Amino acid sequence: DFIYSIRGIHELERELRDCLHIKEVIVVPGNLDNENYVLADIAKATSELMNKLIKNKDIIGITGGTTMAAVAEGMEQQNKDKNITVVPARGGLGRRLESQSNIVAAKLAEKLKGNYQMLHASDTLSQEILQSILEDPEIKKIIELIKKVNLLIFGIGRAEDMANRRELPQDVVEGLMKDGAVAEAFGFYFNLAGEVTYEMKTIGIQFADFIKIPNVIGVAGGARKAQAIYAISKLKKDMILVTDEGATREILKLY
Ligand code: BG6
Repeated sequence: DFIYSIRGIHELERELRDCLHIKEVIVVPGNLDNENYVLADIAKATSELMNKLIKNKDIIGITGGTTMAAVAEGMEQQNKDKNITVVPARGGLGRRLESQSNIVAAKLAEKLKGNYQMLHASDTLSQEILQSILEDPEIKKIIELIKKVNLLIFGIGRAEDMANRRELPQDVVEGLMKDGAVAEAFGFYFNLAGEVTYEMKTIGIQFADFIKIPNVIGVAGGARKAQAIYAISKLKKDMILVTDEGATREILKLY
């Protein structure tokens, strides 16, 4: 019955938290791979958690992707101005979805009655051009802001799916797979042990910054993402994970 299933979910949360050795795990019922409604539940759980964590003057970073878009969409409209700023975590990462990280950030800011900053940079920049962009005073200001992010909400992807979505060159995709990349987050690709195997050169949050952010929430659902979530959980022990039952049961099988 209902009470039993809620208790079952809490047990799953504890079990997963203990296996992954991270600060907190929130699990919603269902498997996103099979049931679409699970996305809205993941988004709701994430926005409730954020509401508990958000403080005045926070600088919030968010990535793009369908999960983050749902989180921004599912956020309750706030009417108190807490002087919050929202920034996209990284600029110019992909062809379709990441270019929406600006939109996701703007949407979240609107819901939180805060401000937002956009990060405009194409994903096909050479190193030299990236370097010169970093000299731009406007970009510099945003980069400074991004370095001060104290709450980051990010999507977790399967390495292969993200590489294909971003239309990385075939040899890069093959290299990634050969190196054992299973996970992708904010432009970095990781193997099962959580080691960086490849990174997309772009501006915004870097891996060293990520490690230092006090509040970090990773969000991903669906059994297919089990290995990706497992790998990302190796990165930062004080992170919070919001996921679903489908992914949870599959991750537990990895132990
Ligand atoms: C992207 C993030 O926008 O979303 C990635 O930058 C993440 O780091 C991905 O892997 C996940 O996408 P989705 O659509 O599965 O939520």
